[in-house]
Amino acid sequence: MARNDKKIKVLFVCLGNICRSPLGEGIFRHMVNEAGLSEYFLIDSAGTDGNYNLGERPDSKAIKAAKALGISIEDHRARQLVKDDFDSWDYVITMENSNIRDIKSMGKVKGKLHLMRDFDPEGQGEIKDPWCLGQDAFDEACTMIERSCRGLLNEIIKEFSLEAAKK
Ligand code: 4NP
Repeated sequence: MARNDKKIKVLFVCLGNICRSPLGEGIFRHMVNEAGLSEYFLIDSAGTDGNYNLGERPDSKAIKAAKALGISIEDHRARQLVKDDFDSWDYVITMENSNIRDIKSMGKVKGKLHLMRDFDPEGQGEIKDPWCLGQDAFDEACTMIERSCRGLLNEIIKEFSLEAAKK
């Protein structure tokens, strides 16, 4: 399980890869680290239209929302989702239905394709694009992403018996 080729690979996907999916990546990585499980995971994010923002840092309001949780996402740089991603990831976690439609129009992903809020214990649906909106919209998206990341991690821990693997 701990060998590189056997890592559990989780990719977060949104449209631009500068707001929601970098939050997903950063928050999920933080939780995995806190749980002492980092050796079992490979975590990344990408945008279906990441070329708009290719190489950019996250939006300053996303950085601020993450910082409020004690998490730094400043080192992230936006990238485009590419065909190679389709065979590489065990979990592809998207933010809204249009992400899923865009992915399906590019091909079939090998792993499990989900909406982020499929793992939110407090509600279902999309995490709407906060881009161009105020800090409140980013903070709200961040709260939903945080809850959902916790749910996702709990599900993966159960599925792969990771607590037992740690001992
Ligand atoms: P994200 O937000 O998909 O959460 O990164 C967006 C960022 C940029 C654009 C759209 C959404 N854009 O059109 O440039």
